[in-house]
Amino acid sequence: MKSIVILISGRGSNMDAIIDAELPLEIRAVISNRPLAKGLESAAQRGVPAIALDHKAFATREEFDTELSRVIDQFRPDYIVLAGFMRILSAGFIARYPNRIINIHPSLLPALPGLHTHEEALKAGLKIHGATVHFVTPELDHGPIIIQATVPVLSTDTPATLGERVLAAEHKIYPQALRWLATDRLELSASGVVRIQHLDVLETDKTTTLFVLKE
Ligand code: GRF
Repeated sequence: MKSIVILISGRGSNMDAIIDAELPLEIRAVISNRPLAKGLESAAQRGVPAIALDHKAFATREEFDTELSRVIDQFRPDYIVLAGFMRILSAGFIARYPNRIINIHPSLLPALPGLHTHEEALKAGLKIHGATVHFVTPELDHGPIIIQATVPVLSTDTPATLGERVLAAEHKIYPQALRWLATDRLELSASGVVRIQHLDVLETDKTTTLFVLKE
């Protein structure tokens, strides 16, 4: 069975969704760079070793990343799963785990990389927004895409209401992406495109998704 370590910074609701999905994956540890992260309690309650590694105790990003990789390597995971991990990882850290780090980002990448995606989606007047699970490469929020989910943007939305709708979608696609990973269904081509082998039958009778909004 493949194994993972999950990195978090806060609430950890994606981490909860991953643990609760009971995937055919060994979750060896959860590590937070913020010692007070709520997700640490929730991981421990679920029986997963929960470790705090305070980035503020390190003078530089590289020093923190070196210690982070030392802690991760003790668990010998196949993959590192970023679930609301709000620190940029150094190029050296990413190079140490090629195609072995996975992230979830709350937008339809390559649109809206970076922070405050729900505010940006509203500012841009987007009608469709969503979330993306992808492999991590040195360029922030740009790695090969594994799965995406779309949600409608309502004219009554605030960043908070839109964020909640996106988060609900995140909780579905992250376990799905990891299920494919766990069962060897993901193939990453040399050009950086992910193909999913033996894709489950998608229930769709339309080729275009149109959100008809009744408000
Ligand atoms: C999620 O929206 C994730 O995509 C973003 O930060 C949020 C973390 O939420 N990077 P949680 O900690 O998983 O509840």
